[in-house]
Amino acid sequence: MRKIEGLEAAEDITRFYQPEMARVIGKWELTEMMVLLRLQLHSGELLDHEPGQFLQISLPGYGEAPISFCSSPTQTESFELCVQAVGNLSEAMHDLRPGNFVGVRGPYGRGFPIDAMQGRDICIVAGGIGIAPLRSLINYMLDCRGDFGDLTLVYGARTPGDRLFKDDLAAWDARDDIHTLFTVDQPDDSWTGRTGVVTEPLRDEVQLDPDRTTAAVVGPPVMYRYVAMELLEKGMAEDDILFSLERRFKCGMGKCGHCQLNDLYVCQDGPVFRYTELLGRTEAIEVWASEDERE
Ligand SMILES: Cc1cc2nc3c(=O)[nH]c(=O)nc-3n(C[C@H](O)[C@H](O)[C@H](O)COP(=O)(O)OP(=O)(O)OC[C@H]3O[C@@H](n4cnc5c(N)ncnc54)[C@H](O)[C@@H]3O)c2cc1C
Ligand code: FES
Repeated sequence: MRKIEGLEAAEDITRFYQPEMARVIGKWELTEMMVLLRLQLHSGELLDHEPGQFLQISLPGYGEAPISFCSSPTQTESFELCVQAVGNLSEAMHDLRPGNFVGVRGPYGRGFPIDAMQGRDICIVAGGIGIAPLRSLINYMLDCRGDFGDLTLVYGARTPGDRLFKDDLAAWDARDDIHTLFTVDQPDDSWTGRTGVVTEPLRDEVQLDPDRTTAAVVGPPVMYRYVAMELLEKGMAEDDILFSLERRFKCGMGKCGHCQLNDLYVCQDGPVFRYTELLGRTEAIEVWASEDERE
């Protein structure tokens, strides 16, 4: 990973706030709301990110926002971002064309603890667009397959049309070194697979060795509590369950306090946390609870 050299010096902080230019070299519409962009740094440098880290993306006149890497660091000649059109910047990013430029700062944050995950069985639970950062992790693990034990992916989307990365899903499903379980909440006539929320195949079909397994979970906050319950029910330790949290970010690098969660800065201490790190932090639990109430 690229280091923020001498970040404590004021001039270096200014330098690191300065976005560098990245050129769009590919664009695919994954769904009506989601676009996949492939980019390269104009400087030709490598970003050398970790799965689970994010970039601060900017467009002049539209602002700046954190977006997770959805490509593996083993893909060295370019990197990919999957963007949902929800507001100013993300809608403008949907209008980008190959050859256009965006500003990028990063990579930032604490991603998945790859070293600690090596040698272990990995159970990945993805909900909705949570599959985007997990695609980075899955493709990394498949490219370094010998470093990990059994791989299981449980992915739930709201409808068949909301499923992201359909080509990747089909390719992963066809492999015999990763066990995939896909489900949708609301099937349509085209869907012949499982129906129900992501916790159902996790509960009924996933067999794991709790002492050997690390779980990586990314999805809507409402999902986290129920996924945690199922994993704990299977005998997993809280310390072996990893969640990636989403908060409002501003600086993205531990300076402004916008993303503060009790005593944690989500942008710097996370976005990936062990469940044990969140248990004593009431605000994290309250965020999940209030999401429940909105459902
Ligand atoms: C670590 C991290 C990784 C992320 N990765 C991705 C990614 O890979 N792809 C992607 O599409 N988005 C991702 N996001 C979310 C993205 O940064 C926000 O949606 C961002 O606000 C989009 O900017 P905008 O200007 O388009 O929307 P805005 O105009 O800022 O907001 C549009 C709407 O989204 C709401 N909103 C903004 N931020 C959040 C938030 N963090 N949580 C809940 N609601 C919010 C606003 O209230 C508003 O209703 C990530 C966020 C974080 C913190
Ligand atoms: S976004 Fe500024 S401290 Fe986290």
